[in-house]
Amino acid sequence: MNPLRKTIYLSLKVFVIILFTTACSSSNTEEVTDLTTDLSPDEIVNTAFAEEFPDQYESYMRNVYDEDYEHVSKLTEEVEPQLPILFHGYGFSIEYNKPRGHAHAVEDVMSIDRINEDSVGSCMTCKSTAVPALLDEMGEDYWSASFLDEVAPRTIELGEGGESEELSEYGHISIGCSDCHDPETMDLRITRPSFTNAMDRYGVDVSEANKNEMRSYACGQCHTNYYFDPETQKVTFPWDEGLRVEDMWEYYETTAQEEHDFEGEWEHSISGTTIVKAQHPEFEMWSYGPHGEAGVSCADCHMPYERGADKKKTTSHHWTSPLENVEQSCLSCHGDKSEDELLDRVDNIQERHLEALEESQDLSVKAHYYVNRMITSGADEEAIEEAQQHVREGQWFWDIVAAENSDGFHNPHGSMDSIRMSTDASNKALKVANRELSKLGEDLDELDRQIEETVQEVYDEEDPGKKHEHAVNEYFPNVLELEN
Ligand code: HEC
Ligand code: HEC
Ligand code: HEC
Ligand code: HEC
Repeated sequence: MNPLRKTIYLSLKVFVIILFTTACSSSNTEEVTDLTTDLSPDEIVNTAFAEEFPDQYESYMRNVYDEDYEHVSKLTEEVEPQLPILFHGYGFSIEYNKPRGHAHAVEDVMSIDRINEDSVGSCMTCKSTAVPALLDEMGEDYWSASFLDEVAPRTIELGEGGESEELSEYGHISIGCSDCHDPETMDLRITRPSFTNAMDRYGVDVSEANKNEMRSYACGQCHTNYYFDPETQKVTFPWDEGLRVEDMWEYYETTAQEEHDFEGEWEHSISGTTIVKAQHPEFEMWSYGPHGEAGVSCADCHMPYERGADKKKTTSHHWTSPLENVEQSCLSCHGDKSEDELLDRVDNIQERHLEALEESQDLSVKAHYYVNRMITSGADEEAIEEAQQHVREGQWFWDIVAAENSDGFHNPHGSMDSIRMSTDASNKALKVANRELSKLGEDLDELDRQIEETVQEVYDEEDPGKKHEHAVNEYFPNVLELEN
């Protein structure tokens, strides 16, 4: 074992011990009630649970947004203005929204512009309670089946007494009870095999998990980074080397390529770089952040206790920002601080994070355009490839924290480290590009001016879905469309 691997391995072991043996004092041990139900073990409809569990169901219904809710695009100047450039050539540059409530997941996946004829069954995996049933019925074919032709219109037979439900008629089977609970006992459970398999490869048997661990694992089934295995299209979590952002990167640079023939999701049309798209790694970032290390679970903050109709203590099933309810979500542990003090701490973390993130994205934009110029001015092939490798790394390390939905809160240090690694990599790309372009006598001031102008045009376009069209032009052509 080489020394680097050994360090990773050792730190992993320590981390596994911390993460998976810390018991948390805050789990609900106060009221031990028998929750055995009369429901079928195959029940997947949320309304079927309403009668027996009215409080939890009522709070679940608070995940339904107002009818006139309008999606918040991440592509705008107020949010992450460089994304239409940074995701150029990939669906995320066309439509990319902030998440909303669990009750809308099916509806949202059905209507997003990123879904098209090439989309596969795997895209449904973190959206619907029907997925375990689909996996039973379709077996391994589920993952690569056509999303629009085979998965979305499928009719699910809903056990005894239940009506059949068409997946495209969303609503009752958006992320819900049976995803996290065994309908007969209401014990927490894992229903997504990708999580179980990845944890197993990583050395953790989730069937042995204790109650506190389950309060995070239930979320870790979906709130994780993943990719589709090219051969099977199966949802795969890249955790073989560990859960830290640098561990996942190590995996993408080795095992993913050697054993799965996976290099990335797409080729960037400005720099020609093959890019790995990061996805919402809440579970990973949390796992080595201050709360994850202390055994504070996702549910501790996102599912605080509240009083039900008959004043009984129940767990809130309204998954939203814990800052909406600091008293229940945070002060139960941080009783020595005031609400304002805590909110200030969070603001502080998030502001610093967003500022550093934007700077690293700016640098990544610049690196993509510099490599574009290397290509069009006929720079040395090997130098181009070297620069592209740095661009690829730079993009991964900002994207994995940009895709994380807490704006740095779940893991302030891990996020900052990642941003620093991104900046280092982008700077290396620029160094190579500077050297090569100078050799060719290119006017770098003019290049910078062109970048500034192009970026401004992207900002000036009002329609988020059209912004990407302004990211390429005569000076910076789409390199994938160039004739060799
Ligand atoms: C994303 C995962 C998830 C989903 C979806 C979910 N629950 Fe829960 N539920 C939990 C967690 C976590 C707890 C806390 C369990 C613990 O501490 O042992 C819980 C606790 C409960 C309990 C135990 C009593 C209590 O309030 O603590 C009941 C009953 C319950 N949920 C019913 C439901 C119903 C009904 C639905 C669907 C409308 C549902 N749950 C959907 C995760 C989920
Ligand atoms: C079956 C997959 C799945 C599970 C399990 C799951 N989530 Fe989610 N979650 C999603 C998806 C998908 C979205 C985005 C939905 C959308 O935008 O339509 C989401 C959105 C959210 C949001 C944003 C809600 C908003 O209104 O902005 C929060 C907070 C959240 N989840 C927390 C949790 C927590 C905590 C757990 C575990 C107790 C959990 N989730 C378990 C898939 C899941
Ligand atoms: C110590 C408390 C805490 C823990 C533990 C925690 N979170 Fe969070 N989470 C937060 C805070 C605070 C935010 C930021 C909310 C905001 O900016 O309004 C957040 C944001 C989020 C969001 C984005 C919400 C939105 O409205 O867009 C998701 C999704 C999420 N967390 C999921 C998880 C998951 C999954 C876990 C466990 C793996 C977890 N969180 C663990 C406190 C926590
Ligand atoms: C179940 C208990 C628990 C809950 C709930 C909880 N925390 Fe914590 N918090 C902790 C523990 C334990 C630590 C780590 C203390 C340490 O390492 O010194 C911590 C650390 C912190 C820190 C310092 C982090 C750092 O970088 O060192 C902040 C800030 C914080 N919590 C804010 C919050 C906020 C905001 C919420 C609600 C959204 C929250 N906590 C909910 C237990 C909790």
